[in-house]
Formats: sequence, C-alpha cells, structure tokens
Amino acid sequence: MTTTIRPRRRTDLPALADVLLAQQATSRYPFRDPLPIPVDAFLHAEDAQAAWVAELDGAPVGHVCRTGPLSGFPGAEEMNAACAEAHGCAVAELSWVSTLFVGQDARGHGLGRRLLDTVVADIAAHGLHPCLEVLAVHPAALSLYESSGWRPVLRQRPGWLTEVAGDEGPDVLVMVLDVAGASSPRTSHPLDGPGAGPDPQRQPGGEAEER
Ligand SMILES: CC(C)(COP(=O)(O)OP(=O)(O)OC[C@H]1O[C@@H](n2cnc3c(N)ncnc32)[C@H](O)[C@@H]1OP(=O)(O)O)[C@@H](O)C(=O)NCCC(=O)NCCS
Repeated sequence: MTTTIRPRRRTDLPALADVLLAQQATSRYPFRDPLPIPVDAFLHAEDAQAAWVAELDGAPVGHVCRTGPLSGFPGAEEMNAACAEAHGCAVAELSWVSTLFVGQDARGHGLGRRLLDTVVADIAAHGLHPCLEVLAVHPAALSLYESSGWRPVLRQRPGWLTEVAGDEGPDVLVMVLDVAGASSPRTSHPLDGPGAGPDPQRQPGGEAEER
C-alpha cells in the first residue's frame, strides 16, 4: 500500500467528488444530502488558496484545502472575529481549513492526520493563523482536531442547521490552532460559562462549509 499527500490538480475534482459523495451516507459529511450547492463549490474548486489530495496506490482517496477569511453568509463576520481575537491577529491573517475527508475504505491509516498536518504547515509557512468549523456529529474529525491541539472559540447555531436537524441538532463549532510563533492572548476557554460565548439569539450563521 503506497500513500501520498500531494497538491490537488483540477483533474482530481471528479474523483474527489465521487469519494466525497460515496462516504456521505455513513459519515453525514456533508451534513445535507443532497448537497444544496454544486459539489465543486463544496470542494472549493475556485476559491481554495491551496488544496491537497491523499492518494492510496495512485488513486485520490482524501482531500483538504484552505481558504481566506469567510464571507458572503450571515455568520461569517462573527466567525472571523472570534478566530482573529483568539489568535490575536487581523481577520486578513486567518486561513480556514476546509473540506477535510478521507474515503471510507482508506480510513484509519493516518491519511486524515497527514492531510491536516500538511494544510496547517502550509498555513504557518505563509504566516497565517489556522481556523476551522466542525459539527459535533462528526466525531472522528472532532477527535482528530482535539488530539492535534485545536481548541473551540465559538459555537454557532445557523438557521440552515435548525431547518435540517431541528432545535436538538448539532451546533457548528469553530476552532483555532495555535501554531509555533503565533501569539495567543486568550487564556480562558471562551465557551466556558454563561455570557462568555456568543449571543445565542443573534442572526443565524452560515452552513458549515455547505454554503
Ligand atoms: C476525519 C477523517 C478525515 C479522519 O480520517 P482518517 O484517515 O481515518 O484519520 P487518521 O487515520 O489519520 O486518524 C487520525 C485521528 O482521527 C481520529 N479518528 C479517526 N477515526 C476515528 C473514529 N472512527 N472515531 C474517533 N476518532 C477517530 C483519531 O483521533 C485519530 O487519531 P489516532 O489514530 O491517534 O487515534 C475521516 O474520518 C473522515 O473523512 N470523516 C468524514 C468527513 C468529516 O467528518 N470531515 C470533517 C469536516 S470538518
């Protein structure tokens, strides 16, 4: 078994779309089925600042990319602001890790962690600060992030999620990772205790990568 992490090429997109959609039924990632946006948009075909593919014996089986600060949906500003504050940096210095997945049959071999390490190293090399969003219904991803040192800075309840999952459904968790050399002025956990987090009555946010 040969595994490789390499930069994404445009010609990878159809195979990556197949891998993504094939694992959706079991992982519930993407959360909405069918996706409300074209799969290429979900893969950030046009707006990724960098993207990588995990290959298993020469075939694409996983993906991650990074984008610039979020924009174009109701919760974007709040998400950027929470991460910028946590990192002690400007919003323009944020880099969002996005669309991390590994096909069902290729899991458990370390590819997810290698993809995450790759994008984080690239973000750090560019002097940027890593952020991401995750739903608690994706426990493997959450465990990967937590075990890699990511910490939550914001919990959001976007309107689209309430529509799909009802009031008892999962929240969107926004996380940051402190990378070497970056400042991190925040010492207390922003999600601990009443009043420490965002106003739960605020305008609904975005769609956890499904915008
Ligand atoms: C999250 C995901 C990318 C991990 O891929 P993977 O190649 O299987 O991950 P790895 O083998 O590198 O494992 C890395 C870590 O992930 C976590 N993990 C992986 N599978 C897990 C599982 N079934 N349950 C709990 N944690 C798990 C563990 O923390 C693991 O670390 P460890 O091996 O030291 O215990 C994969 O499960 C996936 O594609 N999930 C669906 C898509 C998704 O939820 N994406 C997140 C979007 S925010």
